[in-house]
Amino acid sequence: MKEHSREVFEGKRFGFGKNWNRFLSVLNEERISEAEKSLKEMLECENLRGKLFLDIGSGSGLFSLAARRLGARVFSFDYDPWSVRCTAELKQRYFPDDRGWDITEGSVLDSDFMKSLGKFDIVYSWGVLHHTGDLWKACSLSQLSVKTGGSLFLAIYNNQGLLSGFWEKVKKTYCSCLAGKTVTVMVFIPCFVVSGFLKDVLCLKNPLKRYTQYKKSRGMSVYHDWIDWLGGYPFESAKPRDIIDFFKKQGFYLIKLKSTNGFGNNQFVFKKNQK
Ligand SMILES: C[S@@+](CC[C@H](N)C(=O)[O-])C[C@H]1O[C@@H](n2cnc3c(N)ncnc32)[C@H](O)[C@@H]1O
Repeated sequence: MKEHSREVFEGKRFGFGKNWNRFLSVLNEERISEAEKSLKEMLECENLRGKLFLDIGSGSGLFSLAARRLGARVFSFDYDPWSVRCTAELKQRYFPDDRGWDITEGSVLDSDFMKSLGKFDIVYSWGVLHHTGDLWKACSLSQLSVKTGGSLFLAIYNNQGLLSGFWEKVKKTYCSCLAGKTVTVMVFIPCFVVSGFLKDVLCLKNPLKRYTQYKKSRGMSVYHDWIDWLGGYPFESAKPRDIIDFFKKQGFYLIKLKSTNGFGNNQFVFKKNQK
C-alpha cells in the first residue's frame, strides 16, 4: 500500500482528492472564471502570460487550470493520487495534449523533490501547507521554488487558539473511522446550516444568497468546502504575524494580505527580495 493510502486508512489523513473528484461534477465556466478572478485580484495582474506557475497541492486542479488559461506555463503537483487524477482530468477536459502544463505526484515535504523542480515566477499554495503535518517545514521548502523577484501566494488557516484545538479534534474524529465521519457530518452540517441562517436573518440578509453566491468565493462549492473543513486533517494553523515574520527571515516581503478574524484562511502574497 502506498504511503498516502496507508495514512488515510490509518485515520492519519483526510482523502482530499476523493472530495475534489466529487467537486469536479459541479465545475463549470462560471466557477473557472471566479477562480481566474481570484488569481488576478491577489496577484494584481490581468494575465499570467510568460510566467512560470507552480501549484503546490493542486487539489481539484481548478487553479492550475485558471493559471493556464491566464497564459502561464503551469507545473502542478499533489501528494494525494486522487487530487493528481483530478488535475489530470481538468487538463484532459480543457487542455488535452498541452505542453504548457505538467502534472505529477509529489510532496512539498520531500526536499529532494522540491529542489528538483527549479524556480518559478509564481508559487501558489492555497490551503495546503497546514494540511501536510509539518507546516513550518512546508513553508521552508515551498519558498525554495520562488525566483528572485518572484511571488509566493499562500493561504494558511488562521490560529484561533483554543478553538483551533477543538477543530483539530473534530477533524481527527472525522478521519478516525466511518462512525466518526458519520457523527461529525450529522452534528456539524446542521450546525453550519442553522448558524448561517440565524446570522443572515439577524443581519437582514437573504439566507439563500449564502448558497447561491458561494461560487463567488474562488469558484468553490459550499458543500464540498464543508466536507473539506470537517475532514481536513492533519490540521495546523498560524497567526498572520508568525507567517509574515517567518518569510521575512527567508528574504520575502509582504505585498498583499487578506486576513480573517474568525476561522478560515489568511491569504498572503509575498515577493522575494532582489539580492
Ligand atoms: C484543501 S486542499 C487545497 C487544494 C487547492 N490548492 C485549492 O486551493 O483548492 C489541500 C490539498 O493539499 C494536498 N496536500 C496535503 N499534503 C500535501 C503535501 N505534503 N504535498 C503536496 N500536497 C499536499 C492535499 O492532497 C489536497 O489536495
